[in-house]
Amino acid sequence: MAVLLPGGAGYIGSHTAVELLNAGKEIIIIDNYSNSKPEVLEKIKQITGKDFKSYTMDYRDKEKLEKVFEENQIEAVINFAGYKAVGESVQKPLEYYDNNIGGAITVLETMKKYGVNKFIFSSSATVYGDPEVIPITEDCKTGGTTNPYGTTKLFIEQILKDTYNSDNTWDICILRYFNPVGSHESGKIGEEPQGIPNNLMPYIARVASGQLEQLSVFGNDYNTPDGTGVRDYIHVVDLAKGHVLALNKLEKEQKGLYIYNLGTGTGYSVLDMVKAFEKSTGKNIPYKIAPRRAGDIATCYADPQKAKKELGWEATKTLEDMCKDSWNYIQMSQGKE
Ligand code: NAD
Ligand code: UD1
Repeated sequence: MAVLLPGGAGYIGSHTAVELLNAGKEIIIIDNYSNSKPEVLEKIKQITGKDFKSYTMDYRDKEKLEKVFEENQIEAVINFAGYKAVGESVQKPLEYYDNNIGGAITVLETMKKYGVNKFIFSSSATVYGDPEVIPITEDCKTGGTTNPYGTTKLFIEQILKDTYNSDNTWDICILRYFNPVGSHESGKIGEEPQGIPNNLMPYIARVASGQLEQLSVFGNDYNTPDGTGVRDYIHVVDLAKGHVLALNKLEKEQKGLYIYNLGTGTGYSVLDMVKAFEKSTGKNIPYKIAPRRAGDIATCYADPQKAKKELGWEATKTLEDMCKDSWNYIQMSQGKE
């Protein structure tokens, strides 16, 4: 029985593929490489020493997807596929709704047709909007998303709740990721944003490597200890391990719809991240204070106790690991190591 990973060649999918293979699971990756490269598959095989099947296809292609379900014995689906650039989603809302929501519906319909009922979904802390309570627990209010990307996550969560309510033989787990950063320690896989990165850690890494001149710190007048935005950065390998434990839960326990925050529970500011990166890598990160970025919130970090209690999951990697591994990946991918 295999676990199907739509979008498994991407940043979080590839790290999860490694952890699933290391845990002895069989996997199948489907990806259209709109935001990743097929070479990633070879890297996953090199890291794990294990082989797996893959299909180059759009996960919205119902005919092809049905063929994948016919050709293989699929036990569960972990859905990573979709678009994720917040700014772009404001420019291209229909493409985001189509790819993220249309894709999720196609996968769920196909699962239903083939009697597969275990589904794990990549959601985001963005569904909490501007949180009323910090640290954020899973029962905090959701909504108030400020961009179509965030709204796709919110809508898909609702679709999953409605699907489960209509038929409680579904077994669903919604994972709300906080801020995934870092890379596998081998430096073979990592995050490769196209063009100028929007997110903090990849931007810092490119300043460190000299590809970008300096970081713009978006606002230093927030109500936070140093005035800059505070987030819950989580090492992508810790995040990936959370998926293996979520799958174990769906395999072993009663059917249900479960929701977990995957974060460390610690918030770091933008300037904390700059200092930590400098300390871990010995590189200087020039920065300037710039105006606030539209749609940003001051503080966002998780209460991860529910995942600890119910999944036995806890982030173990340090901020230093996150910085070192991000830097290692960027150096490896530039052939400097
Ligand atoms: P990513 O872009 O690296 O990976 C997504 C993968 O899906 C890519 O390999 C892309 O080629 C593929 N894909 C996109 N559309 C497809 C389609 N129509 N058919 C087949 N494949 C398709 O993104 P990621 O950072 O690995 O994120 C994975 C999931 O986690 C996404 O749903 C994202 O929204 C969610 N998420 C990410 C973050 C983050 O900060 N990285 C935070 C919260 C949630
Ligand atoms: C981003 C996404 C959010 C997603 C989350 C998880 C945006 C607007 N939001 O949020 O939907 O769920 O990632 O991965 O992209 N910063 C700078 N300079 C930069 C880049 C960022 O100062 O060049 C600051 C931001 O203002 C913020 C912090 O760094 O305070 C983190 O930013 P980022 O990495 O983009 O993540 P989020 O804003 O949490």
